[in-house]
Amino acid sequence: MNHPAAIGIFDSGVGGLSVYRAIREILPAQPVIYFADQQHVPYGSRPLEEVRDFSEAITHFLIQHGAGLIVVACNTASAAALHHLRAVFPHIPFVGMEPAVKPAAETTRSGKVGVLATPATFQGALYASVVERFASGVKIMSDTCNGLVQEIEAGRLNGNSARHILETALTPMLREGIDTVVLGCTHYPFVIPLIEEICGAGVRVIDPAPAVARQTRRLLERHNLLAEGDQPGEVHFYTSGDPLTLRRQVSALLGEHGRYHAARWEDSHILAPEPSL
Ligand code: DGL
Repeated sequence: MNHPAAIGIFDSGVGGLSVYRAIREILPAQPVIYFADQQHVPYGSRPLEEVRDFSEAITHFLIQHGAGLIVVACNTASAAALHHLRAVFPHIPFVGMEPAVKPAAETTRSGKVGVLATPATFQGALYASVVERFASGVKIMSDTCNGLVQEIEAGRLNGNSARHILETALTPMLREGIDTVVLGCTHYPFVIPLIEEICGAGVRVIDPAPAVARQTRRLLERHNLLAEGDQPGEVHFYTSGDPLTLRRQVSALLGEHGRYHAARWEDSHILAPEPSL
């Protein structure tokens, strides 16, 4: 017998929506609680310990609000906290993210791959281990795309600034002959059209979200948490920023609505006063 659980998804902001979108596509009946820590966005320039503490409090909050499985829809938080979260919440299944270096290394023909991620993700042990395990013999070029997360949060997906940041990152990589770009930050799938325009045909852009969604489904099945039936699952969005702004962002990025709630950091805990939007 199944006991459907809500999926708890979190990110520093709207980046995790790229993962939410993929999850919703294959698990439409599953309820979702999404937490955007927009008071603290961006995570990528913060110390890993700080992001780990945020992640633990958010996970606690999501579990309190009914999440039975957590998707860390943020490469930075996964780098900083995934290991720690599994130890602190041993009864909860977690799905984390790591830059998709493995599929890139397996399919590159030129043997040259570009990785775009935040500074914190590149610093973490997870990234070093992925490169060591899967990328021997492959030349990896990386860039932190400084400021791109803020452009995406502001909804400027095709502005001069986003274009300049991406051209600066990708031009030297393209000159070296990369044929694959790995999106190692969940915000970046929202600028895929711009990345493809800069890279031109012949460069494969890897968005890990569909693979993460499939892994989420596998874990729900394994733990008997899968929701069945045709009714769309309820979706609640919480933000430590402004819920009205988040509602506009979700609607602009995904053309979709759910219920929106304010959540407030108090010391190292999160409170969610009613009412919601
Ligand atoms: N979307 C996040 C990631 O995947 C965090 C970006 C940020 O807040 O710096 O890394």
